[in-house]
Amino acid sequence: MARNGLNISKTWASNMIDLQGEEGPTPHQPVLYHESLTYLQVQSGERFVDGTLGAGGHATGILKEAKPQSQLLGFDVDPQAIKIAKKKLAEYGERAIIQQRSYADIQTAINELGWKCVDGIILDLGISSMQIDIASKGFSFIKPAPLDMRFDQSTGQTAADLLNTLDEKEIADIIWKFGEEPRSRQIAKMIVENRPLTQTTQLTQIINQVYIGKDLKRNPATRTFQAVRIAVNRELEVLEKGLENALASLCKGGRLAVITFHSLEDRIVKQLFRQESKDCICPPEQIICNCGHKATINIVTKKPVRPSEEEVEDNPRARSAKLRVVEKK
Ligand SMILES: C[S@@+](CC[C@H](N)C(=O)[O-])C[C@H]1O[C@@H](n2cnc3c(N)ncnc32)[C@H](O)[C@@H]1O
Repeated sequence: MARNGLNISKTWASNMIDLQGEEGPTPHQPVLYHESLTYLQVQSGERFVDGTLGAGGHATGILKEAKPQSQLLGFDVDPQAIKIAKKKLAEYGERAIIQQRSYADIQTAINELGWKCVDGIILDLGISSMQIDIASKGFSFIKPAPLDMRFDQSTGQTAADLLNTLDEKEIADIIWKFGEEPRSRQIAKMIVENRPLTQTTQLTQIINQVYIGKDLKRNPATRTFQAVRIAVNRELEVLEKGLENALASLCKGGRLAVITFHSLEDRIVKQLFRQESKDCICPPEQIICNCGHKATINIVTKKPVRPSEEEVEDNPRARSAKLRVVEKK
């Protein structure tokens, strides 16, 4: 099917990343795949960055659709994702440069390669299906596992470390702020009363206890698990730093595409894009501008791009996805 002049004919089914032979988890289906490749204008660029490789779905699409001499630098902080992406992208040889590091370091990484700037960057935030399925990571509220939740399990504090040491108010604030959980205080109180927590199942049981007798559409553990994961991996801080780094790394006319999965992430992306697309960022009540700010980007997607009904039906994980794209001036 031709979209915006880009010939993309792959079907969702053929685009599924089959990882069953590797680690055994569910294949990860890249979200808003066609849309992000189209908006990135991959056929006109030479150098790309995939800041969140995951199973390498979007990265494969970029290397497949872009010019044969083009290159892609890909990152992930999760060593298991890196292993899977390396295998997936092996057929592209030196065109795919894969590094285990944070997308917050994009600028340093491209400078290390001697690249001044890149033509396209994609950030597909959050967690992949395979990470949820690898029980030992502790992301699943269904599978019993140590309460870990670190993307990179070799460094930083685990979810158990946080929940066993923070005070009740700090825990409630995390669950409220990063999970928008209305019963955050009750959950935090029960966490503190039941310490030490070591297993995912203990946290799930506490949440079920708080919601006992309620007939809910979604598992009530979803929000708290999301909140704790965001806190453990400092995802919002990384996002702020990563977006600034990404914008600074784009060549003139280069594009940044960001896919978010919840309102907190989307708000950060939307606000930074808005600010960087304006010549003046003085408070609205100020009549004369003295901030000296100059717009560095144009917003390409005035409204976020949402997955089609067909995609959501095929991949329910895509339900809350939003794609925003900007172009460097
Ligand atoms: C939704 S998945 C990406 C899926 C990928 N687009 C694909 O098509 O397979 C998000 C990935 O971002 C990774 N990630 C999370 N924080 C990161 C960071 N700070 N830097 C790089 N990768 C990160 C996660 O480990 C995960 O593999």
